[in-house]
Amino acid sequence: MTALITYDPTAALTTQPDNRFAALADAFNIARDEVLADDKLFKSQAAVPESKQPLDAGFVSWPEDLLLDMKTNGAESLIVQLEQCAARLSSTSDSVVVLGIGGSYMGMRAMYEALCDPFHNERSRDDRQGVPRIYFEGWNVDSDHQSDLLNLLDRRAERATGGGPDGRTSVVVISKSGATLETAVAFRNFRALLERRFPDSLPDLIVPVTGESGRLRDLANAAGFQNVFSIPNGIGGRFSVLTPVGLLPAAIAGINIRRLLQGAADMTEHFRTADYGSNAVLDYTSVGHVMETDHGLTTRVLSTWGCHLEAVGLWYDQLLAESLGKQERGATPLTGVNTRDLHSRGQQHQEGRRDKLITNLLPGTPRRQPLMIPSRDDDFDQLNQFASLDIPTVLNAAIGGTNQAYAEDNRPTANLQIESIDDHSIGQLFQLLMLSTVLEGRLTGINPYGQPGVEAYKRNMNAILKNS
Ligand code: PA5
Repeated sequence: MTALITYDPTAALTTQPDNRFAALADAFNIARDEVLADDKLFKSQAAVPESKQPLDAGFVSWPEDLLLDMKTNGAESLIVQLEQCAARLSSTSDSVVVLGIGGSYMGMRAMYEALCDPFHNERSRDDRQGVPRIYFEGWNVDSDHQSDLLNLLDRRAERATGGGPDGRTSVVVISKSGATLETAVAFRNFRALLERRFPDSLPDLIVPVTGESGRLRDLANAAGFQNVFSIPNGIGGRFSVLTPVGLLPAAIAGINIRRLLQGAADMTEHFRTADYGSNAVLDYTSVGHVMETDHGLTTRVLSTWGCHLEAVGLWYDQLLAESLGKQERGATPLTGVNTRDLHSRGQQHQEGRRDKLITNLLPGTPRRQPLMIPSRDDDFDQLNQFASLDIPTVLNAAIGGTNQAYAEDNRPTANLQIESIDDHSIGQLFQLLMLSTVLEGRLTGINPYGQPGVEAYKRNMNAILKNS
């Protein structure tokens, strides 16, 4: 099992020495109690006071509850059913299209990019060990993008021979409300493709993941699909990554969802029990809060190092922005990927407006044998001086050099350290960031649940479409 993620804000607190970090312990302990009480209130099914509505606190203890369900109910448990459905789709289809947007998309994209081979879809089925190719759609209204994917899958179906998985596509359609236009439009098109190419196996090839009611639920009830999964009430879209929304696509992609959930459950336990000052959730939240309120650092840069964590950052952008960007308040999240962005945003982070707290998300030990800088007889690029070094050493030099440059100019940085990117640590990371977001909401009096501001564009778009 991977060690717990650690948070080290030393550099941030040193560059801003007049900070209230220590003085906020009591306030954060009270806010933590409220987050935990919210979870209990939600589970008790008692009436939720108006001041707390909406209350989508179900994600807090969901991972441990799901693991307990597996221990208690075995084959009947949700985890095992998800794994069985994933195994079925893997054996019957070579491509799976996952349709969804926002909270019904960002989390699984994050897991796929963090935990899967970046060239997964380009490998042969044997090299993929039977794991289907994974595609994401329904998160845009880009006709060309959708049409190119439809065309690719259609051509594969056309060339397929025999009754095996080759050339066959399944669709996992995810929408809690069942009414999101982007997803619904894409579903029509991909459903039509399946109807045309595989008319006899439609109920096996489409898996809806949806709320207890709504248009997609109605269709699921009527159509007789072999599997339908529910998004639990009380877990909002952007908090739903560890529900069937993220777990089904993750299991299809070969990710170990039990370890993912265990990582999240371990982080919740850490949040519950560790003291302020050595609690990654409390401390991460407190430093962000202090830097924003006392020092005007309203932009929170999540600086990810390596190529695997960008989509986790984009998922977090949504989580923080939609949860706390209310009442004309809330810090602005910004995800970066280094060293790529040192060559783009780096200038501004080093010398621009002093409104940024930079949190490095450090990926720890690489999963594969590190590559070396090879030696060459011609040494045309003069790299032989580094020829005994491996690439992780270069990365560490870049991290050290960048932090040093920020510190020398009093620009605050902090580190979130992952031991190694794996199922367990990504589960931890999701839970840490979700808990932190609701904790900050409770501390500052912003309800972190609900996203009333997202409705305006939908209303207008629908009105414009009706007049088109
Ligand atoms: O966080 C949220 O609730 C939103 O981002 C939703 O997930 C997004 O709008 C998609 O909604 P739905 O799952 O109902 O299609």
